[in-house]
Amino acid sequence: MQEVRGVIARAKGAPVEVATILVPEPGPGEAVVRIQACGVCHTDLHYREGGINDDFPFLLGHEAAGIVETVGDGVTDVAPGDYVVLNWRAVCGDCRACRRGRPWYCFATHNATQPMTLTDGTKLSPALGIGAFVEKTLVHAGQCTKVDPAARPAAAGLLGCGVMAGIGAAVNTGGVGRGDSVAVIGCGGVGDGAIAGARLAGAAKIIAVDTDPRKLEWARGFGATHTVNAKESDPVAAIQDLTGGFGADVVIDAVGRPETYKQAFYARDLAGTVVLVGVPTPEMTLELPLLDVFGRGGALKSSWYGDCLPSRDFPLLIDLYQQGRLDLDAFVTEEIALDGVEEAFTRMHSGDVLRSVVIF
Ligand SMILES: NC(=O)c1ccc[n+]([C@@H]2O[C@H](COP(=O)([O-])OP(=O)(O)OC[C@H]3O[C@@H](n4cnc5c(N)ncnc54)[C@H](O)[C@@H]3O)[C@@H](O)[C@H]2O)c1
Ligand SMILES: [Zn+2]
Ligand SMILES: [Zn+2]
Repeated sequence: MQEVRGVIARAKGAPVEVATILVPEPGPGEAVVRIQACGVCHTDLHYREGGINDDFPFLLGHEAAGIVETVGDGVTDVAPGDYVVLNWRAVCGDCRACRRGRPWYCFATHNATQPMTLTDGTKLSPALGIGAFVEKTLVHAGQCTKVDPAARPAAAGLLGCGVMAGIGAAVNTGGVGRGDSVAVIGCGGVGDGAIAGARLAGAAKIIAVDTDPRKLEWARGFGATHTVNAKESDPVAAIQDLTGGFGADVVIDAVGRPETYKQAFYARDLAGTVVLVGVPTPEMTLELPLLDVFGRGGALKSSWYGDCLPSRDFPLLIDLYQQGRLDLDAFVTEEIALDGVEEAFTRMHSGDVLRSVVIF
């Protein structure tokens, strides 16, 4: 057992706090990772606000890179000293999705089995089964994906969630290909990941939609060819105007609200694809004319983690980063200390940052 400092959300809506966390020695199949950097994702804020579930207290943080410190029995894929990006899709190899050769849908992903706790023994729920706003964390060894150690932790760690979710939403779920027109609604870390992914895939037109002009400026840096301020003009009409009146081949909702989903639905061309990657909250509902769902054809898809396969996608994207073809550094707006997470949530809300990254 080790005592470390970490950021917890104790109760719904209450400010997060730094607490002492007890991390057990790794059991069979587990690893303890010394965290070097962990990004602040909107999903952490969803957890704090009770938008994911009520299993408080949460150990927040899940977009992280670090060094494997110790491993438990039976761990062969990673060893102490390995530089890894943590993932929340440690595939089981045995569920019905894995057995059909579709491990990126794995329905029985692995997490550590032992709990991390507070000093009074209270069990913590680690965000997305990781919990990485903490000096050291306990994960399943399959949650550790080895990447090139030359990649800077603040940038590499972002592949662990939001940026991967965005890139994968475009490339894997949306199937964006050469010459496609793509629109992305919501240009935070996830939306800009989708824009970067669409560019990598050869999209001809990439339309960024946000309510914040600064976000639109940043989106251009990731590859947006056109921008639409949703406060100033109707995104559906604007996207249609920019695509010959038809709508985009693929529209990605990286906000996850009924109104943005409807915009995505109507801003896509006939037989086009909608990808929902933003995470809705439990009270949200959607109403659409069923005839429009039928009549417009195409595909309405949701994207969990960009349908990624960490062992395939993380090293590949790190290679593209090293070659200068994927600017992960541009996602890192600021580096902060462990006690800066609450302030980072405020700045996320006010649109001042793309990603705040906790550096250890
Ligand atoms: N599916 C997944 O696997 C996955 C993974 C990570 C994050 N997410 C989710 O993706 C969403 C985005 O995460 P993020 O970290 O990029 O958040 P973020 O807060 O950094 O970005 C959200 C962006 O949406 C913009 N926005 C808000 N309302 C809008 C509207 N009505 N129209 C246009 N733009 C609007 C904001 O200005 C902001 O730029 C969150 O819901 C998060 O939980 C999903
Ligand atoms: Zn599986
Ligand atoms: Zn996340």
